[in-house]
Amino acid sequence: MRKTVNILAIETSCDDTSAAVLEDLYVLSNVVSSQWVHQSYGGVVPELASRDHERNILPVVQEALCRANRTLKDIDVVAVTQGPGLIGSLLVGVNFAKGLALALKKPLILVDHMQAHVLAHFLRDEENRSSPQFPFIALTVSGGHTRLSVMHDYFVSELKGETLDDAAGEAFDKIAKLLGLGYPGGPMIDKWAATGNPDRFKFPHPQVQKYHFSFSGLKTAVLYFLRENVAHDPAFPEKNKPDIAASVQKTIVDILVRETERLVEDTGIFRVALAGGVSANSCLRHEMQRMLQRKGAQLFLLPLAYTTDNAAMIGAAGYLKYIQGMVADFSEGAFARHP
Ligand code: KG4
Ligand code: ZN
Repeated sequence: MRKTVNILAIETSCDDTSAAVLEDLYVLSNVVSSQWVHQSYGGVVPELASRDHERNILPVVQEALCRANRTLKDIDVVAVTQGPGLIGSLLVGVNFAKGLALALKKPLILVDHMQAHVLAHFLRDEENRSSPQFPFIALTVSGGHTRLSVMHDYFVSELKGETLDDAAGEAFDKIAKLLGLGYPGGPMIDKWAATGNPDRFKFPHPQVQKYHFSFSGLKTAVLYFLRENVAHDPAFPEKNKPDIAASVQKTIVDILVRETERLVEDTGIFRVALAGGVSANSCLRHEMQRMLQRKGAQLFLLPLAYTTDNAAMIGAAGYLKYIQGMVADFSEGAFARHP
């Protein structure tokens, strides 16, 4: 019988320092330390993020080992996010992981953050979830990316569409900022929308090529909409926060659901998996479920902890790469954008 593999995974691509320990695909621990320093700036300040990762990484790794009831001696493989993300933040994680792998004389696995978001669907834990079978459609929606792909295998995907400008998460964050809801905006819009009327205000849908997305027009439309209404009533945004949040959220969700529906129809692939921070959105989860149920298709949703950035997903991708022999060369470094 094959020996199980203990993986230590590290994720530092943006503003969360995270470490996880996995036994094969089973999550033993998943520690995420969020940086609050950025809140007062209304967005992530890259320089402050790198400094915070530097301070947090050792305690976060120690905590992950402790919660998993493992020591460094038990670790067989070190996995880390290579990119895309903030280069200064990525370098903290990559260099820490390289040092650790060298000291432990263990293999290093460099992981693509966007692949890992989708591969989170193969994580195992005490909840008994089923993973999607190949081929399946993946809608990956995060702060930096909006992608619709067909997954043929763990590392074989066909990109069908992506955003031409802002990502879905970026749209949530920027519009939340216009509404004065704070950062990160996605969860705040989700919260305010809970008591709002999504049909009260109408915002335009982009006219772009099939399977593609565009969200910068929506941001501009909301900006003009607020300006116009504030001219008549300065308290307009304050008085109508729930309805504006619900209407904006519904517009973003309708755009995401519509393109996914088209891809399901055109490919005849009846399995859809959502991944990335925006897949935590309650309206997206609900509306996607409704659309797919109508079609008799299956939706795969992640527990919320695996939607936003976390090291467990890096561990899943790390394990799957390791068993396929996709081990890194120590001369490889981090990348901010896909080469
Ligand atoms: O995947 P992620 O944690 O980091 C990136 O790889 O970018 O995604 C972060 C994005 C942010 O834009 C955040 O506002 C959004 O995910 N987000 C949400 C929700 N939770 C996080 N957007 C809408 N509704 C949510 N509940
Ligand atoms: Zn992410």
